[in-house]
Amino acid sequence: MSVHAAVDGPNGLGGSSRPVTIHDLRAAKQRGERFAMITAYDANAAALLDELGVPVLLVGDSLGMVVLGYDTTVPVTLDEMIHHTRAVARGARRALVVGDLPFGTYQDGPSQALASATRMLKEGGAGAVKLEGGGPMVEVTAHLVRAGIPVMGHLGLTPQSVHQFGGFKVQGRDDAAADRIVADAQALAEAGAFTIVIEGVPAELGRRATEAVAVPTIGIGAGGHTDAQVLVWHDLLGLTSGRLPRFVKAYADLRSEISGAVKAFVSEVADGEYPGPEHVY
Ligand code: KIV
Repeated sequence: MSVHAAVDGPNGLGGSSRPVTIHDLRAAKQRGERFAMITAYDANAAALLDELGVPVLLVGDSLGMVVLGYDTTVPVTLDEMIHHTRAVARGARRALVVGDLPFGTYQDGPSQALASATRMLKEGGAGAVKLEGGGPMVEVTAHLVRAGIPVMGHLGLTPQSVHQFGGFKVQGRDDAAADRIVADAQALAEAGAFTIVIEGVPAELGRRATEAVAVPTIGIGAGGHTDAQVLVWHDLLGLTSGRLPRFVKAYADLRSEISGAVKAFVSEVADGEYPGPEHVY
């Protein structure tokens, strides 16, 4: 069995060597096939994830928090996003690379969004962009789609609105807020969004939003009923320090692995054990 088959099944998103398209993702939902999206920020990780058959790589603006050391995603710039998206695009052969539009680069309306998204595709090499929010972002999405740019929506706990939310808080807890998120999901799908990330909402709302749209929903902290799931690379691998949100499952403890390796190197250098005869020209 190939690695691709092990990840996604023989005939599914991981079963072919041609590049993954937005149409493949929609077809996966129609087949009832769930898939994973993982964030990536550099060429090395992108090449590995691609080789493993992960169909969608998101160059998230979480870049700001997990790579660049910001407290929120708000300070991330379009140049920073393009720099890392280009690296991921260089590493990926078949995965669909989605570049996040950072805060302040699309909220002004359709023409600002089109200029930013165009840079993300032309300079970053992305195959699609992601943007946060419903309401006025529905028209922005429709404008980009009309221009031929695939758009991934993002609803619920949209991190670029952290200051408005008063922290990274679960959204859609009351009926009115939940109904608004479902209506936004429908409006984004009608505007042409090819997938919608649903973040930080009760599981029941994740289910409602998923059932309300024909395009795949990609959940993060939105329960088990969404069509796909996304995790941040650093969280998935146990590289993040401090308290993790409840929805995170670390599938490895790379922080400990790395600590062990670094300590061994430092100590072998101090003891003169490294380099050994086998490492010397
Ligand atoms: O920026 C990001 O990585 C994201 C995902 C967590 C959905 O938006």
